[in-house]
Amino acid sequence: MSVTVRVPAKVNVQLAVGAARPDGFHDLANVFLAVGLYDEVTAAPADELRITCAGPDAAQVPLDRTNLAARAALALAARHGREPAVHLHIAKDIPVAGGMAGGSADGAGALLACDALWGTGASREELLEICAELGSDVPFSLVGGAALGTGRGERLTPLEVGGTFHWVFAMAERGLSTPAVFREFDRLGQGREIPEPVASQPLIDALAKGDADALAAAVSNDLQPAALSLFPELDRTLAAGRAAGALAALVSGSGPTTAFLVRDAESAARVARELRASGTCRTVRTATAPAPGATVL
Ligand code: C5P
Repeated sequence: MSVTVRVPAKVNVQLAVGAARPDGFHDLANVFLAVGLYDEVTAAPADELRITCAGPDAAQVPLDRTNLAARAALALAARHGREPAVHLHIAKDIPVAGGMAGGSADGAGALLACDALWGTGASREELLEICAELGSDVPFSLVGGAALGTGRGERLTPLEVGGTFHWVFAMAERGLSTPAVFREFDRLGQGREIPEPVASQPLIDALAKGDADALAAAVSNDLQPAALSLFPELDRTLAAGRAAGALAALVSGSGPTTAFLVRDAESAARVARELRASGTCRTVRTATAPAPGATVL
């Protein structure tokens, strides 16, 4: 017997970042939107905890206990007093170290898969609590749709989405480390007053109306200057997407994946084609949003 869970990637349509807190984390106003690119996590009985991974980026995925999927299984097993004897297989389609919450997706997926496999019967509340312990973006991978994340991003308020948004994503030649991007944000902000992060009401209204033009006018990412500082070539990818007719072009989360909001499927195909031809990125994918959260298949 085995259980497979499908989990979406995310794009941050707003990422407002406050000053570093005493614990090193940053308070955020983080508007997550789940997009239809998925990892699948399969849990099957085994003698001991084992992780395998397949997919184009599989070689970059750690298979030890630093993997968020492993940490999820260990956390659930510890809470319920059982052995974490499970084989977790990750079918990876979300870019690794891309700012699209691929690792977080695997954590949420493994948690839900182990809960179902072991019959743990953990409540939604307990699952969300474990997710928050695993990482700031993991609770959102469980719930999907759209949500405002506050605190370090883990405290979620669901948001309404009134239509389908079309996106194109350009994956970069190399990854970026999230802690390094936050450190660069701190460095660039030295000597400046960093305002409290606040969610944008026009952006929340645009999501609720399903209005792509209004959303394009409202998207923002405070980590973008830091990501560009560490990875200046991303500017060329952003420019290529804009030139191809994207309504908005931004770095996804801490990057280096770049995200392009477009009007419709036809425009997505055109922007994707031109981005591929631009030679400024490794691969290009199209996806629609919102996508559901972690789901047992
Ligand atoms: O929570 P998570 O493990 O995903 O965070 C990864 C790293 O990103 C943290 O160790 C921290 O350096 C940075 N981070 C932050 N503020 C947040 C979220 C993450 O500084 N709100």
